[in-house]
Amino acid sequence: MEPLYEGKAKRLWATSDPNVLRMEFKNDATAFNGEKKAQFEDKGRLNNAISTLIYGFLEKEGVPTHFVRQIDDTNVEVRKVDILMVEVIIRNLSAGSFCKRTGLEEGRAFSQPIIEFCIKSDELGDPLVNDDYIRELSLATPEELAFLRESALKVNSILGKFFSECGLKLVDFKLEFGRLATDPKTIVLADEISPDGCRLWDLKTGEKMDKDRFRRDLGGVMEAYAEVLERVKVATAG
Ligand code: C5P
Repeated sequence: MEPLYEGKAKRLWATSDPNVLRMEFKNDATAFNGEKKAQFEDKGRLNNAISTLIYGFLEKEGVPTHFVRQIDDTNVEVRKVDILMVEVIIRNLSAGSFCKRTGLEEGRAFSQPIIEFCIKSDELGDPLVNDDYIRELSLATPEELAFLRESALKVNSILGKFFSECGLKLVDFKLEFGRLATDPKTIVLADEISPDGCRLWDLKTGEKMDKDRFRRDLGGVMEAYAEVLERVKVATAG
């Protein structure tokens, strides 16, 4: 059987229910738009476990997501969505491409979260776009865009508190949304939330606990992901 879709870190498979897909977390890691590649044993399992706990927590907090249930170590069932071709990035502290673009040093706390929108396109390298681009490219309607902004800020506020209970600072993260196959007027949070798409710094030591360990060759990539999982497990159990 062929996957319906294969991305850099996940595969999507059909199930017996046309409105439900199986999402498989791979062990592949990529950075700099696929220029840097590696395989990490256990990465699929760790990201699946972290993302499953976080999506369960977000659902409990009233955020609708595509998540249905965990199947096994590396697979979950998700509701079929039509993914919006616009990615939403929220930043609480300066890091990554924000520093590159502006020259600001890493780690400056913003007075309010910054929201960015990027076109979801490997070919174009996920370029940063504004509301006018999104309207003219028909990536989302103005109403959908307002909903994305509102949802992203809500998720940021919920996850900021959640990760601080884990002893982690939520520096920035990326979200993807999709229109439900069964009801395209309804937009839900899709994709995954894991250290692949979030910057998480240890609150006490400032240590990076996310994919920057891979991007910057800091070592201990899977050890950091495993530590994030342990802390997320404790926070969600309480
Ligand atoms: O690279 P940049 O600083 O723009 O990334 C901001 C945040 O969004 C980081 O947490 C990064 O992991 C995430 N991101 C992502 N996928 C992308 C671009 C950014 O998960 N394609």
